[in-house]
Amino acid sequence: MTTPININFVESDIDTIAGLTGKLAVLVSPDGKIDTLARRVNRLSKGAIARFAESDAFAKLEHGAGVALAYPAGMTCDGVIVVKIAKRPSVVEARKAGATMAVYKGTDTLTVLAASNPKAADISYGLALRAYAFIAHKTTETDDIQGATMMVTNPESVAAEAGPMAALAEGVFFTRDLVNEPSNILTTNDFAARLAAMQELGLEVEILEEDELAKLGMRTLLAVGQGSTSPSKVVVMRWNGGGDEAPFALVGKGVVFDTGGISIKPSAGMEDMTMDMGGAGVVSGVMRALALRGAKANVVGVVGLVENMPDGDAMRPGDVVRSMKGDTIEINNTDAEGRLVLADILWYTQERFKPTGMIDLATLTGAIIIGLGHDKAGVFSNNDTICKDFLKAAETENEGAWRMPLAPSYDKLLKSRTADMKNSCGRPAGASTAAQFLQRFVKEDTPWIHLDIAGVALLPGDSELAPKGATGWGVRALDRFIRDKYEG
Ligand code: BES
Ligand code: MN
Ligand code: ZN
Repeated sequence: MTTPININFVESDIDTIAGLTGKLAVLVSPDGKIDTLARRVNRLSKGAIARFAESDAFAKLEHGAGVALAYPAGMTCDGVIVVKIAKRPSVVEARKAGATMAVYKGTDTLTVLAASNPKAADISYGLALRAYAFIAHKTTETDDIQGATMMVTNPESVAAEAGPMAALAEGVFFTRDLVNEPSNILTTNDFAARLAAMQELGLEVEILEEDELAKLGMRTLLAVGQGSTSPSKVVVMRWNGGGDEAPFALVGKGVVFDTGGISIKPSAGMEDMTMDMGGAGVVSGVMRALALRGAKANVVGVVGLVENMPDGDAMRPGDVVRSMKGDTIEINNTDAEGRLVLADILWYTQERFKPTGMIDLATLTGAIIIGLGHDKAGVFSNNDTICKDFLKAAETENEGAWRMPLAPSYDKLLKSRTADMKNSCGRPAGASTAAQFLQRFVKEDTPWIHLDIAGVALLPGDSELAPKGATGWGVRALDRFIRDKYEG
């Protein structure tokens, strides 16, 4: 797995600055004021920092953005990035500042002259998140990525504050690695093995194989995987850091590749369907982060791992399958497979764990991308309280989320001629009809949220805290949600 870059915190030492190598970062507040460490760089570079701080270019910079000065005279380093950041920045601004430094850093060493900025830990968090690179399959790219050092006035307390953030970053990286990984490598077997390895962290991990799934009656989940040579699996991960109360449940769609099945997808862009296990990826990353930071909460993560392939054994359009719950489903489109996987694991999770609440995540519909684009996930819920709590957590973490409707009127569209419901009903309100379908497998008294992350799990370009590709969207928001709700 991608290792997070190593970030050390050391006491500020003005005398070493002239001789530092690699890259440097200094902070300048929006009013142009500079701290003692930046003042030292200013003196060595014969006033370059102050001149820049007084310039129009600096005035126009966004908070958290920066400008680089290459090979400053009077210093041994390769360059200094001057980052505009308030003396008391918000968490979001501080993370952005760290991300700016990460982009400038590249694979070089970096020394951040953070001095007494109160959000030094958040700067390190943004730096770590943005420094992520998926280079597992690049033959020529170096995995020799240098770490960073931050000069701060109180290294012990900053390091203590940064500890849980490093755990979260590792959870995010775990998710991103899973989502970026191609499907010939991340098979259902490989995915399950990576989750089983998390037992070392104190998670209980249980892998349910096809024969057990058949006994449990998970026929709709098994139908999705029946055209693939990779065996379908359900993996249950438990973190018991709380008392004896029932757990909160996270449920994820883990389609390791979605060809569409017999209702096959067009070839253009099909390669992106390696990310169709994104929901399961986020659930796995959250479980990892909870274990790494020793969360004081009981959480169960359940993921359905399958591959949707066309084959002689594959499910056909028109097939009728009985779900574990007992309702029958006409599969009129084999490309609406995610809801077939979730129907059974949502039901199973409630029957077995009686959770206090349940959130599922899935790259479920292209329709949510049409509706919300790439910066907000679709949020569907049967419960205003849990929904409000989640939206607040997502906002705090600056992870885009927008509530979308569920309504009985969508039920009419799910009517089938041959079964209790059909799995697909065309283009109108495609994300809502999918969510309405899922709601049929949620008990009325289970507070539940469905997150459609098709637009946010993988991005076509760089974003604030991630390079192009997998984002790990939701790991931070869900961890925050659990922390605020259960560890308050
Ligand atoms: N995995 C796709 C949804 C998706 C699309 C995810 C684009 C990420 C990017 C899902 O299984 C799917 O194929 N959904 C269909 C549903 C339709 C057949 C009702 C869709 O959105 O077209
Ligand atoms: Mn599909
Ligand atoms: Zn899919």
